[in-house]
Amino acid sequence: MKNLVLVGFMGTGKTTVGAALAASLEMKHTDLDDAIVEWEGRSIPEIFTDQGEAYFRDVETKRLAQLLAVGSQVVTTGGGAVLRKQNVEMMLEHGIVIALHATEEELIKRLEKDTGRPLLAGGVATRVKTLMAERAGVYDFAPIQVDTTGKSLSDIVLEIKRQVVERTQDGEQ
Ligand code: S3P
Repeated sequence: MKNLVLVGFMGTGKTTVGAALAASLEMKHTDLDDAIVEWEGRSIPEIFTDQGEAYFRDVETKRLAQLLAVGSQVVTTGGGAVLRKQNVEMMLEHGIVIALHATEEELIKRLEKDTGRPLLAGGVATRVKTLMAERAGVYDFAPIQVDTTGKSLSDIVLEIKRQVVERTQDGEQ
């Protein structure tokens, strides 16, 4: 079976949903950010501070390729992993891609107290608004689109599973 790849803006719940989805399908769950941290032996804020975002994006692409090559996993990605065309192409080739969404208001609420995301430094609400505007449409390539606002974790997992089954019945493997 192809990988199930979760994409979406920071705070849309990719990691939490991915873990629950994997458990319910008895699949392995691998998180791209965790794989990067393990590979680098330091946190994401440290990578950004020490070597900058461009370096992080290069490592992100390399690790994504490795994770996707394993196959049959639920792979959760960082919000910016879709910014490179090469990454999007890999995701579509080696997985069924699921985009999670939430309203700007909901995301700001969820991310308000966050300190582990370097791109939100300097004011969460302003940064979320700016990045959401800059990234408008970047998750639209995913064939499965799920709005998580106001939904329970179990409902989100059910909705994803229903849509994955529909797609695989339509001929995707
Ligand atoms: C980023 C999102 C983060 C992490 C890094 C950059 C982004 O992952 O990869 O801080 O560019 O949106 P989450 O989406 O899991 O927060």
